[in-house]
Amino acid sequence: MDNNMLQAQAGLWNLTFGYLKTMSLRCALDLGIPKAIDNNGQPMSLSELHSVLSLPPSKKSHLFRLMRLLTHFGFFVDNSNAGACTEAVYDLTAQSRLVIQKNESANMLPFIRCSLDNKWLKPSLHMADWFMQDSKQIPFELANGCTLWEIASREPAVNKMFNDAMVSSSCLFNDIIVKKGDEIFKGIESLVDVGGGNGAMAEVIAKNFPHVRCTVLDLPHVVHGKPNDGIVKFVSGDMFDYVPSADVVLLKVEKILHS
Ligand SMILES: C[S@@+](CC[C@H](N)C(=O)[O-])C[C@H]1O[C@@H](n2cnc3c(N)ncnc32)[C@H](O)[C@@H]1O
Repeated sequence: MDNNMLQAQAGLWNLTFGYLKTMSLRCALDLGIPKAIDNNGQPMSLSELHSVLSLPPSKKSHLFRLMRLLTHFGFFVDNSNAGACTEAVYDLTAQSRLVIQKNESANMLPFIRCSLDNKWLKPSLHMADWFMQDSKQIPFELANGCTLWEIASREPAVNKMFNDAMVSSSCLFNDIIVKKGDEIFKGIESLVDVGGGNGAMAEVIAKNFPHVRCTVLDLPHVVHGKPNDGIVKFVSGDMFDYVPSADVVLLKVEKILHS
């Protein structure tokens, strides 16, 4: 085999097994590895980690492989080279710290969890079916039999999982809004966040820029039960029927426009 063919095979294997990178992350979260290292208060050897997770002895070498893969992609770091250790010693990195933040509004775990949930993974198995159908259904509907909004309206757990995910996907974005807000909201008196979910972004804006009256419009199952005596007003409805008037309409997160 010449060099070009070897390169081609490496590329093809990379494409073929790329999904294992994602599934390894899900496995680490399912096993609670970032939390275990964080709870330890200091880097953890492979043996310590294996013992804390209470995994069978036969799985120790597999745990090593899992950790090696995630270390390669920067989710963990192996500190063993720094000392004279004979086995790997794992610590958290900036990436893994994002899923164990004590400050809930800065923790990305709900977003990662939701994105790796079966309902969200399943559509990727139906992409070719979707391409072959001349229909308006998105792959999520094809795989799950209905829209996310329909599932969320009848399954409170899915509704919560998704809304929490949206809040957590915004955590870093909120800081930017606060830093740049004086410029962005100059002369603005009112804003409506269309499809604003739990109202996390609207709340950040209302709290930091009190001259902006903030309203959130979202579907009934999302807005249901939200108190309307706070700094954000919640309106229940369908954006295709009605959008409350305001100086600014905020449409945040790409999925709004093709809802
Ligand atoms: C991708 S989420 C974005 C949530 C929020 N903007 C954020 O960035 O965290 C889309 C939101 O649009 C809402 N939505 C979907 N269809 C809608 C419609 N027809 N009218 C109003 N809201 C809708 C969903 O309930 C959901 O909260």
